Amino acid sequence: MSRLLEVRDLSVGFGNARPVKGVSFAATPGEMLAIVGESGSGKSLTALGLMGLLPQHAKTGGEILFDGRDLLKLPEKDLRGIRGRDIAMIFQEPMTSLNPVMRIGDQIVEVLRIHEKLNHKQARLRAIELLDLVSIPDAAKRVDDYPHQLSGGMRQRVMIAIAVACSPRLLIADEATTALDVTIQDQVLQLLDRLRSQLNMAVILITHDLGIVAQWADRVVVMYAGRKIEQGLPDVLFETPYHPYTQGLLAASPRLKANYHYRDGPLTEIPGSIVSAAAEEGCAFRPRCPVARSACGSSVPALVQLSAEREVACPYVPAIAEASYAASVRR
Ligand SMILES: Nc1ncnc2c1ncn2[C@@H]1O[C@H](COP(=O)(O)OP(=O)(O)OP(=O)(O)O)[C@@H](O)[C@H]1O
Ligand SMILES: [Mg+2]
Repeated sequence: MSRLLEVRDLSVGFGNARPVKGVSFAATPGEMLAIVGESGSGKSLTALGLMGLLPQHAKTGGEILFDGRDLLKLPEKDLRGIRGRDIAMIFQEPMTSLNPVMRIGDQIVEVLRIHEKLNHKQARLRAIELLDLVSIPDAAKRVDDYPHQLSGGMRQRVMIAIAVACSPRLLIADEATTALDVTIQDQVLQLLDRLRSQLNMAVILITHDLGIVAQWADRVVVMYAGRKIEQGLPDVLFETPYHPYTQGLLAASPRLKANYHYRDGPLTEIPGSIVSAAAEEGCAFRPRCPVARSACGSSVPALVQLSAEREVACPYVPAIAEASYAASVRR
């Protein structure tokens, strides 16, 4: 499996705060990778890091290898060539990302003319093709509409058309469907999934919605307070969530929980919220963890790889406890 993207130990800091504390994950062409975690866990900062769009004063560490090149070390000039062409992103609110006084076709043409050597006429034809690709009916006519003439779902499709205009190899969707109603949300996800396979793109889907993850993702990374605390294949992870935080997330999603056997387990909803104070010492989830013990305060639990796809950062997960017991007996 070739790795298009490999993020190694990424950290992002502002002054004394370090909202992203060493995150590693990879993405391969054609896969849909979900990143979940509650508000403030560092998902958007991670995404902005991939786009080279972190604020100037952010301090970064680690590596973001895209096609083997470390994006964190590239000069802005080179990043501008990659952003929008090789890596594109769609955001939650299309109205703030689209220019309200510019026809949608012209906004697509603008992107095409920055990155591709097309004349105006070719770019306009391509814009119509792209609107057609994202299933905007009557594309040849709608190309001259202004954003306010379109519904929310249609505007999100235009955003996707702009994002995929140059056939990027990585598309990041940060809560891109959250503002849409459920039916439209499902249509937009279907569209993203179709484009993923047609263009063989890697898609990183950032969402709060575990139902979306279960339905669409090939792999899922769970983040908590700036760290990856669990990773796995959605079906396996939802059937047997290991980390107490993942268990809590699932307990808080009744609709999803009902589809998995684990509903019979000792799931409890997570009390409290992400605690930033004292998060540097020990496990950040400790103050909210139903199975925390005193040792959890002394060091940050290491992320342990249990199988090719499964990783978890809690030493009291039975599978990890058994493995370390077996290792200690052998010693
Ligand atoms: N420019 C910034 N300066 C200082 N702190 C920031 C900045 N941007 C984000 N943070 C902090 O970093 C933390 C993580 O932010 P991030 O936006 O990545 O969270 P998120 O996981 O995307 O949350 P949400 O689900 O709400 O979108 C937050 O606690 C936030 O306060
Ligand atoms: Mg966010």
